[in-house]
Amino acid sequence: MRGKTIILGITGGIAAYKGAALCSKLVQAGFDVHVIMTEGACKFITPLTLQTLSRNPVYTDTFDERDPSVVSHIDLADKADLILVAPATANTIAKMAAGIADDMLTTTLLAATCRIVVAPAMNVHMYDHPAVVRNLNVLAERSVMFIEPETGQLACGYVAKGRLAEPETIVAAVADILAEDERKPLLGKKVLVTAGGTVERLDPVRYLTNDSSGKMGFALAEAARDFGAEVTVIAARTSASPPNGVAVVRVESAQDMLDAVMERFDSSDLIVKAAAVADYRPVVRASSKIKKSGDRLMLELEKTTDILQTLGERKTKQYLIGFAAETGDLDHYAMDKLQRKHCDMLAANDVSEEGAGFNKDTNIIRLYDKSGLIEALPIMSKRDASRRMLTIAAQRMADREGKEAGR
Ligand code: PMT
Repeated sequence: MRGKTIILGITGGIAAYKGAALCSKLVQAGFDVHVIMTEGACKFITPLTLQTLSRNPVYTDTFDERDPSVVSHIDLADKADLILVAPATANTIAKMAAGIADDMLTTTLLAATCRIVVAPAMNVHMYDHPAVVRNLNVLAERSVMFIEPETGQLACGYVAKGRLAEPETIVAAVADILAEDERKPLLGKKVLVTAGGTVERLDPVRYLTNDSSGKMGFALAEAARDFGAEVTVIAARTSASPPNGVAVVRVESAQDMLDAVMERFDSSDLIVKAAAVADYRPVVRASSKIKKSGDRLMLELEKTTDILQTLGERKTKQYLIGFAAETGDLDHYAMDKLQRKHCDMLAANDVSEEGAGFNKDTNIIRLYDKSGLIEALPIMSKRDASRRMLTIAAQRMADREGKEAGR
């Protein structure tokens, strides 16, 4: 971890005293540690303690600009590889969720583009309070990561969940997060992702589509890019914006998507079919606007080609991940789709579940392979779910390559 810069934000709870041990262990692990303390934190422990342990100046006041050549909160945010808020009080968590910047720590957090990790510590009833739960969910949607509090003797006398994780646990978690971010497990691989909802035209002004926003597909494309892959997204109708650094091919119908995918299939190593593709399309697409006539209008629909199944039947070296959007009996339908469409992995989401499915920033995904359930991911941002899925896929691709090479 030498050469990595960590901003350690200490906030005003009794666990602030553990900030000293945490700071010391981070320095011992090789991090360049810069500490920001809130006013509340300074009531529990002195900045001098943290300055001595970090061997860097400690920041407590946004307006105390010691170096005229920089703006401190921007400079700190820019040079951080990771910001760790530990202990994080309910108050600071609420400010982060609301985007409030009224002290040096929250101002720096707003200016940061690096990973943010929060280690909450508070009384168990505060931790379970709906406001705190909601604020933690808001932060999770923004891909903030958490180091869960531990269960044990709390300063208030309760024996319950809420105690700051031990400094050793926090340092190990931070090191793991940074190491994971640095690995490029898909380096040199070509990844094809489909995103969004297909559009099947009835006439020049009307169409059949679905609620897919493209968020899931774009999160997967972003994760694949971060993992070092060369990424192409075949995107149908979307409301979200694609990530930078990936090639985007726009399509409309299931047939357009099939054509675009087939063109690139042979040269791809990994294909992720996150798009919501129409199963049926109108038999006739009227060339002019369909006029109103009579009380009923019968639309005749015909099956589209199942792109995933076509890929499954044709694949050679490719690793194929399908999705299943269900509204119940997830395990049954997921395994059926995995087998029928010859997928290597299948990601199933119950789109009727709170926090999952269409147009949300979070998802709840269950991952399967031919032997059954691999992992049930908890509710997490689509970004983090994508990273987890691709970490597993990259590992399995590497294992398969190793076996083929006789290693
Ligand atoms: O885009 P978001 O708003 O973020 O929403 C994400 C999502 C809910 C769309 C996504 O998580 C998801 O579940 N995508 C799959 C949607 C879907 O079409 O599921 P399905 O169970 O109907 O189809 C199963 C699989 O077959 C899917 O991989 C699908 O891409 C594929 N398929 C389906 C029909 C078809 N003609 N060709 C296909 O390739």
